Amino acid sequence: EKGGYPDFMLKEICEQPRVVRDTLVGRLAPTGELDIDELGLSFEELNLIDRVYVIACGTSYHAGLIAKNLIEGWARIPCEVEAASEFRYRNPIITPTTLVVAVSQSGETADTLAAIRDARIKGGKVFGITNVVGSPVARESDGVIYTKANKEIAVASTKSFIGQIVSLSLLSLLLAQAKGKLKTGQVKMLFHELGDTAAQIQHILDTQGPAIHEAALACKDAASALFVGRGMGTAISYEGALKLKEVSYLHAEAYAAGEMKHGPIALIDPGFPVIAVATKSPTYDKVVSNLKECEARGATIIALATEGDEDIAKIAGHIISIPPVRDCFSAITASVPLQLLAREVALMRGCNVDQPRNLAKSVTVE
Ligand code: M6R
Repeated sequence: EKGGYPDFMLKEICEQPRVVRDTLVGRLAPTGELDIDELGLSFEELNLIDRVYVIACGTSYHAGLIAKNLIEGWARIPCEVEAASEFRYRNPIITPTTLVVAVSQSGETADTLAAIRDARIKGGKVFGITNVVGSPVARESDGVIYTKANKEIAVASTKSFIGQIVSLSLLSLLLAQAKGKLKTGQVKMLFHELGDTAAQIQHILDTQGPAIHEAALACKDAASALFVGRGMGTAISYEGALKLKEVSYLHAEAYAAGEMKHGPIALIDPGFPVIAVATKSPTYDKVVSNLKECEARGATIIALATEGDEDIAKIAGHIISIPPVRDCFSAITASVPLQLLAREVALMRGCNVDQPRNLAKSVTVE
């Protein structure tokens, strides 16, 4: 059942190129129009959307953080991302032109379902993004996009996360098209680049094993680790920290790198692991200067860097290389080595990577 892999987590990480391809199959018509019929809303209705909430829990919430950048960046619609457990107990502003996007691998997370019900009572439109056909989230939403991850068995979400980001990218492109913010040619180009991430993930899987192993050795005995980045890199860091702590029980926290000076830099002492998303992006230089401050205090820096970046090697003790990719798609590629890093550290610490303690695959009670 594990298809020759030692654990489901690794099997599922390695399936991610296929997930990208399958989630995109048949989604772009030759005319350049995106084909997402299951959304159940016309282009005209989509054009009226003036506020988006993405609600989800855990890893799915992190997919939402990534989507916020895309929805605001491409479609120019204000977007908030909120933990479903928070959203359901406050009184969010929802009108008939509010789109609530519920992201849930299992489609049965109790808080996410409660939030959907509340949003519908208040008159909002609800889209589900789920991996399970016919799940409660699918049934109770006005429309649904299914991620094509297939069944995910390891408790730690990996391939479903990538499927969520790809689906949310499609939704963001569709909103941008409906709002007239992106031209057909731009949508086509971005769609194809989104598809290219399948090969980029494969390249990372094929080449970065040894570097990830060395990085894991460098942090496996730490009491704590910090993940930092900016922009997309911040969202990627949140997911990297969650993955590490849930499978290896090594405490990890994620911070926007620009926040370091406001507190967390006090943690840094010689050997403290800082895992940085330092790929080429509009804020690359800023991230580098944050890392220099960590380096000056003796941190062990593990940097996710764009292939061919020689400058970063002067600061970071460990480099994991990522093929060049447009910033908007960097989460798809950069998340993969962080999944592998979490797994390696967990194995080195003798943990069961498929079934971490205290966790269940679906959280169907509050
Ligand atoms: O099934 P869901 O996507 O609604 O689950 C939400 C979280 O429980 C889930 O993402 C959890 O954080 C991951 N399994 C962690 O890897």
